[in-house]
Amino acid sequence: MLIDTYGRVANDLRVSLTDRCNLRCTYCMPEEGLQWLAKPDLLSDDEIVRLIRIAVTELGITEVRFTGGEPLLRPGLVGIVERCAELDPRPRMSLTTNGIGLERTARALRDAGLDRVNVSLDTLRPEVFQAITRRKRHGDVLRGLDAAHTAGLTPVKVNAVLMPGLNDDEAPELLAWALEKEYELRFIEQMPLDAQHGWKRDGMITAGDILASLRTRFTLTPEGEEERGSAPAERWLVDGGPARVGVIASVTRPFCRTCDRTRLTADGQVRTCLFAREESDLRGALRSGAPDEEIARLWRLAMWGKKAGSGLDDPSFLQPDRPMSAIGG
Ligand code: GTP
Ligand code: 5AD
Ligand code: SF4
Repeated sequence: MLIDTYGRVANDLRVSLTDRCNLRCTYCMPEEGLQWLAKPDLLSDDEIVRLIRIAVTELGITEVRFTGGEPLLRPGLVGIVERCAELDPRPRMSLTTNGIGLERTARALRDAGLDRVNVSLDTLRPEVFQAITRRKRHGDVLRGLDAAHTAGLTPVKVNAVLMPGLNDDEAPELLAWALEKEYELRFIEQMPLDAQHGWKRDGMITAGDILASLRTRFTLTPEGEEERGSAPAERWLVDGGPARVGVIASVTRPFCRTCDRTRLTADGQVRTCLFAREESDLRGALRSGAPDEEIARLWRLAMWGKKAGSGLDDPSFLQPDRPMSAIGG
């Protein structure tokens, strides 16, 4: 079991498969991209599968989410999913992606054993998409979403970040679209995880703003606390349900008290929180021949050091050194 000093147990593992991305979202990275990790520094497919096996068989992990950067850019993705699906107990597996390339791979991912996907899409307007991501790939994302839905990678969830002056007027439109498509839409408050360190609390679109905007067109009824469990998204029934909309309010309504996550970066570092300033090196242990028990011990030790919360509200808050794309959303 992975447990921390506050009694929280991690059963959800987020694995970043690459720090690279084919978009350049302004809230994540600069136009020119970042200094990518060098190939030898990345965990190999075998190393990733071994760490997931240890997490599942020795440490009580039941949910595995593959993230990036953009995880579809990892050539071995389908094979990794396939091998993880053979683990006993078999973890539930999901993917968080920008959707580019999903049109081609959704079926293979489903056949390999992936359960579901979350796709990032902030706008329905191609020109706004280009302003946010600096790429003309809006159509690819929409086709990727369709393919995921058709392949049965459901429920398909859509993540949208709203930004002032760009897409903050789009919440009701996005929800109407998601209801029609049968996607579960979640709005995410923008977090200070951009490589440029440009995030400002002032002017940020908050959960309160989003709900007010949605309520101009829909009736929202809160879902019960038990149904939420440890999920980051608070959810509301839309017009009496059964459809729902979620808000991930990491900044204004943090959910750290129920956090059940541990994270593995593409270069084999355990992070206990998105906002942690410390990492624990598992790659070094792997490559120096450590047995499974030693890896498991190091992971437990890392978890024991998990802080109470993100620290976002502390006056001394410092953004983590690594941006979102390197941590794995
Ligand atoms: P499911 O609800 O299981 O589908 O997944 P999820 O919402 O946890 O995953 P997803 O990768 O879609 O993440 C959505 C948003 O939640 C992203 O912006 C993440 O960075 C954020 N998020 C995920 N886990 C955490 C966390 O532990 N802490 C905080 N503050 N944000 C998180
Ligand atoms: N704040 C909030 N969400 C972000 N994402 C990426 N960077 C940020 C940020 N700074 C979102 C992506 C994706 C998810 C993994 O995190 O849009 O949906
Ligand atoms: Fe890529 Fe995701 Fe960052 Fe956008 S938010 S640039 S999709 S890693």
